[in-house]
Amino acid sequence: MSTHTTTAPAIPVTRLDQSDPVLLEELLAVVERVARQGAFTMGSELEAFEQEFATYCGSPHAVGVSSGTEAISLALRALDIGPGDEVIVPSNSFIATAEAVSWVGATPVLVDVDPQTHLLTADAVAAAITPSTRCVVPVHLMGSTVDLDPILAVARDAGLRVIEDTAQAHGAFHRDRRVGSVGDVGCFSFYPTKNLGGWGDGGAVVTPDEDLAARVRLLRSHGESPRYHHRIVGTTARLDALQAALLRVKLRHLDDRNADRRRLGAALADGLAGTSVELPAPAFDGADHVYHLFVVRSGHRDALRAHLERHGVSTAVHYPFPIHRTEAYGALPEGTLPGAERLAREICTLPLFPTMTDHEVAQIVAAVRSFEPGE
Ligand SMILES: Cc1ncc(COP(=O)(O)O)c(C=O)c1O
Repeated sequence: MSTHTTTAPAIPVTRLDQSDPVLLEELLAVVERVARQGAFTMGSELEAFEQEFATYCGSPHAVGVSSGTEAISLALRALDIGPGDEVIVPSNSFIATAEAVSWVGATPVLVDVDPQTHLLTADAVAAAITPSTRCVVPVHLMGSTVDLDPILAVARDAGLRVIEDTAQAHGAFHRDRRVGSVGDVGCFSFYPTKNLGGWGDGGAVVTPDEDLAARVRLLRSHGESPRYHHRIVGTTARLDALQAALLRVKLRHLDDRNADRRRLGAALADGLAGTSVELPAPAFDGADHVYHLFVVRSGHRDALRAHLERHGVSTAVHYPFPIHRTEAYGALPEGTLPGAERLAREICTLPLFPTMTDHEVAQIVAAVRSFEPGE
C-alpha cells in the first residue's frame, strides 16, 4: 500500500478560464461595454453572438436562450412535442436531458448506454420505439461524439426528430461537421464549467430549420414580435446580453482551448495505458473527443478516489445515479438498465482543464499508477 501523501493544494477537477489574467482583462472590458450601454436583454450583443455561434457550428441559425435545459425544452415545444409523446433519452446523462422532456409534458423513455463508449446506440433507440415516440436525444457526453449516422437512419425510418444534446461537446466534430449541426436541432449549455461557458447560466438552440428557429425565438420571449404583439404563449428564457458579450470573447478562444483539452486528454490516456483504469472507447473510428470531462472506469472506484485524494488529485463522479435511479425518476430497481448502472458504480472523473500543466498531468498519472486495487 502506498503511504505517500501531499500537503500541496489538490489539483481540482476543473479550473475556470478567467484564472487566465489576459483573458480576464478582455472579459472585464466587455462587461464594462455592456454596462455603459445599459442594454441588458436582446439587442446587438445577442444578435452578434447568435450569428457568430451559428457560423462556428456550421449551422444556419442559432438562438440564444437562458440555459441548456431550456434549449432542449424550447426545441421540443417548437417541434410541438408534449403530452402523450415519448422522447428517447440515454439514462447515463445529466438529469437535465430528461427534465427538459418532462417539463414540456412529454415522457422521457430512459434507455441503456454502451458501457464501453458510455453513449447511446442506434440499437437501444430502435428497441425503445413505440407508436408514441416522436424524438430521440443523443447526448455527446463528456465531449465524446455519439455515432449519429445509424441513429439518424433509425430515426428517419421511424419519423422521429433528433435533438443533439451538445451541452458537453461544444466544437467537437462529428466526421466533417460540428456537433449540433448534424441532427434536426443542437442544444448547448453555457454553464460556467462548460467548454464554452459564461459567467452564469445560458444556452443556445442551433438548427438548419428556419421556421423552427423562428418559433424558438418567439417562445423564449413571450411569443412577442414585434413589441407587445404576442403571437404564441411563450416564456422568459432569453440569453442575457452580458452573457452573449462574454461568450463572444470566449468563442474566439474555443478552438484553442479545445486543442489544449485534446492534447491533455491524449497525454493522460497515454500515461494511463496499461494501468488498472479503463478509458471510454470511441463510438466510431476517428470519433472526436473534446474532453469536457476525463472519465475513467475502475472496479475499485471508491478506493481509487480515496487514493487519489491522498495524492493531491481531486476527483468527481459524473454521475453517481443514472437518471432512472434518481428519486425524481422513480428510483427504479437495480438491474433495470445494467450498462448505465455499472458505469455509475465504476466511473471516476479525473482533473482536466485547458490550463492544466504537464507537471499536473504527470502527478495525476503517477497517482493512478501507484494505486494498487485492493489497497
Ligand atoms: C448533458 C447535459 N445536458 C443538459 C445540461 C443542462 O444545461 P444547463 O445546466 O445549462 O441547464 C447539462 C449541463 O448542465 C448537461 O451536462
